[in-house]
Amino acid sequence: TDKPQGREAGRDAERSLAEAGALLAAGGTVAFPTETVYGLGADARNTAAVEAIFAAKGRPSDNPLIVHIADVSALAGLVTEVNETAQALMEAFWPGPLTLVLPVAPGAVSPRVTAGLDTVAVRMPAHGIALRLIAAAGCPVAAPSANRSGRPSPTLASHVGDDLAGRIDGIVDGGPTGVGVESTVVEAGADGIVTVLRPGGITVEELARHVAGVRLDAALQSGGGVSEADGMPAPRSPGMKYTHYAPRGALRVVTGPAPEVVAGAIQAELDAAKARGEVTGVLAFDEHLPFYRADCVLSLGSLTALETAAHRLYGALRRFDDSGVTFIMAESCPQEGLGAAVMNRLLKAAGQQVINV
Ligand code: TXA
Ligand code: MG
Repeated sequence: TDKPQGREAGRDAERSLAEAGALLAAGGTVAFPTETVYGLGADARNTAAVEAIFAAKGRPSDNPLIVHIADVSALAGLVTEVNETAQALMEAFWPGPLTLVLPVAPGAVSPRVTAGLDTVAVRMPAHGIALRLIAAAGCPVAAPSANRSGRPSPTLASHVGDDLAGRIDGIVDGGPTGVGVESTVVEAGADGIVTVLRPGGITVEELARHVAGVRLDAALQSGGGVSEADGMPAPRSPGMKYTHYAPRGALRVVTGPAPEVVAGAIQAELDAAKARGEVTGVLAFDEHLPFYRADCVLSLGSLTALETAAHRLYGALRRFDDSGVTFIMAESCPQEGLGAAVMNRLLKAAGQQVINV
């Protein structure tokens, strides 16, 4: 049958949003697009609904969820205090890819959402469908990324289906997400100092324009905080300690001073892998694509536009899987602007396996 068009299609979209909102209000789990990645939503106040998120994802229960709101007025019932620093950040970046960790109002959300912490992470997404869905649900919406735990986050509705079909109650398809990596998670000190717990869609440089100072959580500075056992400080964003975002093939990230030297080292590894029967892949920037021969060569765009790398990263990791790639070499990029979030995710996907040439 023909697809409905124009005004009628608009009415259909509104009806399906109303249906999806009703599903959430009734305790269901619904995946929806945000400007960063697709989220898997449930009523944050409903423990059974929140437990269904953890079950669908296979997510460890000590990793708390972000609560999504459609209007700042919803904050009043969720948190006990918003200091001036947090206020300034909300005014500058909401709606948008910034998550604030705030003192939770007792009983405001299920203890499963906060994993027993006395704080709750809150954000207002900059996506029309997300905002309308949350408003239709009429409740704060807990939503982690809508992937199976440990898989790359979903940037298309089809990624959600690949991971979670049959495990959740619905998917709202809003096409590809924009930013492509998750929100930046911060703590805002009353002294004007902001601590970045997870780099993401709002860059350190952008944050610094609005507050007295920005620092990185100690666990980030020491290289990702993959494990608490090997003497690294425990990350204060609990999710940062898990291996994450990983493709099925073995992934290594290569760093080095000169592009030709890096490319030479990568090609040597690819050739050796090919010789032992691996299906090879390389993740590289446009400027260096001519250097490579592999079964699957994917581009992160130009080194001069790292927002393209953020937008493409997770989809590329999934494409390697879909192509049966077993051995992947990735270039690195400067940790400036969105490059910080890209490298954070890439290094986690690689289990911190870095080759320095
Ligand atoms: O862009 C995003 O943030 C996406 C979309 C769907 O909004 N959501 C997302 O959620 O990335 P998730 O669950 O994959 O990541 C939430 C991160 C984890 O690293 C978690 O540990 C941290 O936020 N977090 C949640 N609550 C926290 C809290 N109270 N204190 C510190 N970190 C917290
Ligand atoms: Mg996630």
